[in-house]
Parts: sequence; C-alpha cells; structure tokens
Amino acid sequence: MSIENLERELRVRKIRDGTVIDHISDGMALKVLKILGICGEEENVVSIVMHVPSEKLGKKDIVKVEGRELDPKEADKIALIAPNATINIVRQYRIARKERVKLPDTIKGFPKCVNPNCITNSSEPVEPSFTVEEREPVILRCNYCSKTMTIEDILRNL
Ligand code: CTP
Ligand code: ZN
Repeated sequence: MSIENLERELRVRKIRDGTVIDHISDGMALKVLKILGICGEEENVVSIVMHVPSEKLGKKDIVKVEGRELDPKEADKIALIAPNATINIVRQYRIARKERVKLPDTIKGFPKCVNPNCITNSSEPVEPSFTVEEREPVILRCNYCSKTMTIEDILRNL
C-alpha cells in the first residue's frame, strides 16, 4: 500500500456496522448532521472528517455513524446541500448497500420557511412542506405560503 493510501486508511478507521456518508460537499458535514437530526446526544459513535482530498470533488467531507442504518428517504434530504453524497450501509465491515442521494420532489419537516408569517412558523405550527422547484442550484417553494427559498435561505434556516 502506498503511503498516501495508508494515510487515508488511518485518518478514520473502518466501521463494523452503520452508515458512511461519503462524498459530502466540502465543509457541509456539520449541516448534514443537522439535517439528520444528529446533535451529539445519541449514544452512537459518530466520526466526522472534513476537507479530505478527493479525486472527484477536490475536497470532501465524510460522516460515519456507527450502529445505525440511515433510512434512505431521510438521507435523500442531504441532496439539498450535498448532491454528490453517497450513503454506504456497512454490515460486518462490508458495504451492504451503496446509494447516491437523490433529491425528492417534495421535502417535509425542514427547513424552516423564510416567511415569519407562514403557518409553519405559527404558534401552533404545521409541519413544513416544500416543492423542489429547481435543482441546480436548488430552489424550494413553500407548499403553504408559496414563498421561494434559495440555498442561502436554506442554510441560514437549518
Ligand atoms: N467504509 C468504512 N467502513 C467499512 C467500509 C467502508 O468506513 N467497513 C468507508 C470507506 O472508508 C469509504 C466509504 O465507506 O469512505 C465507502 O467505502 P468503499 O465503497 O469501499 O470505497 P470506494 O470504493 O472508494 O467508494 P466510492 O466508489 O463510493 O468512492
Ligand atoms: Zn411558508
């Protein structure tokens, strides 16, 4: 094994069981955790590597969540901020499944609508729901108040 490969192997060790989110856009790892609702209060071992050199992306982030297999539906929300991410389900050290995230047509539960008067931001809020109107770069339209959100709005409101 070359010294570069050895260094890459050693940076974060392989996991036994769980989920590896690979090819995350550079610098987006913490936002990915936020989208997945992982806040550090869980018992799972979570490893985060940021700004790793990558052939495909120049630089990338990686998140490894041990002992938990992410639901692909949940994982697809990651496509909003990391369109090239791959979800690797690991069992007994082997990749049992590898899927690239795909942005769904409708996103429910997040982000917070930019419109403070939207019913999703009221004192008895209803669950946010957005239609994906544009994909590159992403634009969401609120299904309640029709306001649109750019990627900047989404990141600000995560
Ligand atoms: N991985 C891990 N633990 C394992 C197996 C794999 O943490 N037991 C990680 C690898 O370090 C890598 C990712 O899961 O970050 C995907 O592994 P693999 O498919 O073996 O790597 P590549 O072939 O490089 O993946 P891709 O083709 O998606 O770039
Ligand atoms: Zn709204």
